[in-house]
Amino acid sequence: MPDVTPAKPTTKPQRPQFSSGPTVKRPGWSAAPLAKACLGRSHRSKQGKAKLAEALDLSRAILGLPQDYRIGIVPGSDTGAVEMALWSLLGARGVDVLAWEAFGKGWVGDIAQQLKLTDLRKLEAPYGRLPDLGAVDFSRDVVFAWNGTTSGVRVPNGDWIPESHDGLVICDATSAVFAMELPWTKLDVVTWSWQKVLGGEGAHGLIVLSPRAVARLESYQPAWPLPKIFQLTSKGKLNEGIFRGETINTPSLLVVEDAIDALRWAQAIGGRPALIARTEANAAIIARWVEASPWAGFLAETPATRSPTSICLKITDPGFLARDAAGQAAFAKALADRLEAEGAAFDIGAYRDAPPGLRIWGGATVESSDIEALLPWLDWAFAETRRA
Ligand SMILES: Cc1ncc(COP(=O)(O)O)c(C=O)c1O
Repeated sequence: MPDVTPAKPTTKPQRPQFSSGPTVKRPGWSAAPLAKACLGRSHRSKQGKAKLAEALDLSRAILGLPQDYRIGIVPGSDTGAVEMALWSLLGARGVDVLAWEAFGKGWVGDIAQQLKLTDLRKLEAPYGRLPDLGAVDFSRDVVFAWNGTTSGVRVPNGDWIPESHDGLVICDATSAVFAMELPWTKLDVVTWSWQKVLGGEGAHGLIVLSPRAVARLESYQPAWPLPKIFQLTSKGKLNEGIFRGETINTPSLLVVEDAIDALRWAQAIGGRPALIARTEANAAIIARWVEASPWAGFLAETPATRSPTSICLKITDPGFLARDAAGQAAFAKALADRLEAEGAAFDIGAYRDAPPGLRIWGGATVESSDIEALLPWLDWAFAETRRA
């Protein structure tokens, strides 16, 4: 790259929030709709339950869930939902866990060290790659993240998952759902939170269960004790109330109202196809810029595996690559800090365990015009950081 600093851009993104969660609120968001929240009332009141059920019904409709799949709101955000699934369902047979970035690695660790399952196969890959999807054994339970938020590597599609499988397929889809098509009938458990593609607030997890997952819950009792907040069954039967909005413990009805607002926005702009189209348009703008960039590249090695939501970029500039690991990390941090100080981009440093670089959220609540406005700032900030 020529050693010239481009002119400082004059236009900033209107909303410089490009964090990968909590993500930017929906376009046009204000606190006004929250005035309709069912506050100061019991979540078990008729009104409280109606709000919870509305959030579930809207989600079901927008995602096109199969009729016989359950959807519920659970404690502990996406982590709570995944852990609930792992603790409630695993142990009945062997398990294959796919890990190619921080979250998948976390699930492997919990399954090995907390649940202490020994019939465990880890299918791992370094940042930027996927493990061999063809090696997954679906006679076993399978755990994976659809989109690796910290590496920007996603599974390309669901073709590698057989429609009929003996084990359960447990999918952490928190940074994928609403932005990518999921093959629901191939998945037995799917989890997410509201503060990703919908731009909602943190707190709660969403869990979807297939009839086969329900059958496992009703026929299998894990060898370990289950804390109350993981309990999906009562006396060996599914607690159906959870899937009508009767949450295990107290939810935030303010957060629920905000999620309803986001879901209504999603519906109003055209539902799932529109959310996906907005996300893909953002990713395409960045891809065009990366193609021409002398200093940035995708961390994801294969185009079909590039995430359109958590877009992870590595720095390919030879001067950067000549630095040692600490020098690279310091440079990438200085770059992100500079963008933040200018008010051009907040929270776009790579995840703490990922290779140093940038991570830009491109999910549906992000406006393409803001991505366009961000790109000249990246070039400017890179050149300034290199000069410093
Ligand atoms: C793939 C994946 N799994 C789990 C989590 C944890 O989610 P939460 O903070 O909602 O528990 C994240 C958060 O970014 C994630 O990206």
